[in-house]
Amino acid sequence: MSIALHWAASHTTVATDPKTTFRSASDLQADVGATITEDGIGAARALALFDEVLLPATRSVEDPMNLAYIPAAPTRAAVAFDTVVSAANVFGGVWEFGAGAIFAENQVLRWLSDLLGWPEESAGVFVAGGTHGNLSALAAARDHALRVRGRRPAGGWALACASTAHSSISSAARLLDMDLVSVPVDDRGHLTGEALERALTSDPRICAVVASAGTTNAGIVDDLASVVEVAHRHGAWVHVDGAYGGAALVAPSARERFTGIELADSFVVDPHKWLFAPYDCCALLYRDPRPAAAAHSQHAAYLDSIDRGESNPADLAAHLSRRARGLPLWYSLATHGTAAYTAAVEACLDTARTVARAVAGTEHLQLLVEPELSVVLFRRPGWSPAAYRRWSQRLAREGTVLCVPTAVDGEIALRLAFVNPSTNPQAVIDVLRTTMLTADGS
Ligand SMILES: Cc1ncc(COP(=O)(O)O)c(C=O)c1O
Repeated sequence: MSIALHWAASHTTVATDPKTTFRSASDLQADVGATITEDGIGAARALALFDEVLLPATRSVEDPMNLAYIPAAPTRAAVAFDTVVSAANVFGGVWEFGAGAIFAENQVLRWLSDLLGWPEESAGVFVAGGTHGNLSALAAARDHALRVRGRRPAGGWALACASTAHSSISSAARLLDMDLVSVPVDDRGHLTGEALERALTSDPRICAVVASAGTTNAGIVDDLASVVEVAHRHGAWVHVDGAYGGAALVAPSARERFTGIELADSFVVDPHKWLFAPYDCCALLYRDPRPAAAAHSQHAAYLDSIDRGESNPADLAAHLSRRARGLPLWYSLATHGTAAYTAAVEACLDTARTVARAVAGTEHLQLLVEPELSVVLFRRPGWSPAAYRRWSQRLAREGTVLCVPTAVDGEIALRLAFVNPSTNPQAVIDVLRTTMLTADGS
């Protein structure tokens, strides 16, 4: 047992290796063999396999030059405290089991509510990730519509969002048996109240609207103020998906983009993306938690003695047992203070702006949009899709930078997502300028 704890203690201070990457299952089978045996293989052998074979076959998400998808950059304090949370093994589902842990998590949720400009009675819960948070919020929205309207509309419920919304929204719609109404965005990629008005007027089945506060592909924040105004006028719930971009609420230089969020009904932000917490952690908040509790509370003879007068995290999402997964963020925030979070998010925004400016000023590169948050989209005119892929794979192999192609308006492009305050913008600019000169990405 102590060797695992020793490994955890030393690992919280060791930088990750950017060259680690996946291997095939057959390759791993050859090196690992059978580990689940009748007599066990022993702690030393199991830990050695993890350290020498299994972990190196994972991709380092927190390397400062990992700029693909949405990477991560947990503070050392948050990583260390994740181990503490495991050792404490608290049941975080209901107050009477997890009061102390839930109290601390609630202080973090209160801080987030204050950033949103939400009232005292707002409340939330930490769930595994944005996908789970979005699904739980939309389940609450659909349940609320049923209570308010009294019956399911002919043809079933529908939810509206832009095509730029994250894939987890269409997955939630499928799981909740809701039709997805796609609303066109404006010429700069925003969902607006004006376009939403047309959708809501023509389809009264729409009971929920999802706006993005930081689209995954481009970091665009929808026009929240007009979306909220129009949706509420039509009696629809507004859920804001800030899984990636919601972290920028702490940054004064970006706060104005979120105007209108004060009146949204539910919101998610993933601290494992851009609030420097380890996996897995999503904060799900409701401006008024009562519809969520009505939708999600579980009832049975063996649960009836639970004190429902207290705030029970189990009541606010689709789960019952839960890890107190907000605590690593709580510990890190309590340790470093919120000003350090503001500075760290501002640093990422600044890096994105600096890199975008450099891309725009480089002859062989083309910036596609001015970044609103910390995503930079660009092209290397003249390159074929194969050239982009060759370049991306070569740099990943070398451990120089991880940047994978995406598509913008149906055409291949490159995307850099900055969520790590240790990323050096000049190092990124140097890589782009020197490795993209050749005509074929080699
Ligand atoms: C905007 C947005 N919403 C939701 C998600 C899903 O989050 P998770 O992967 O934590 O389930 C993501 C993931 O990248 C995202 O960017």
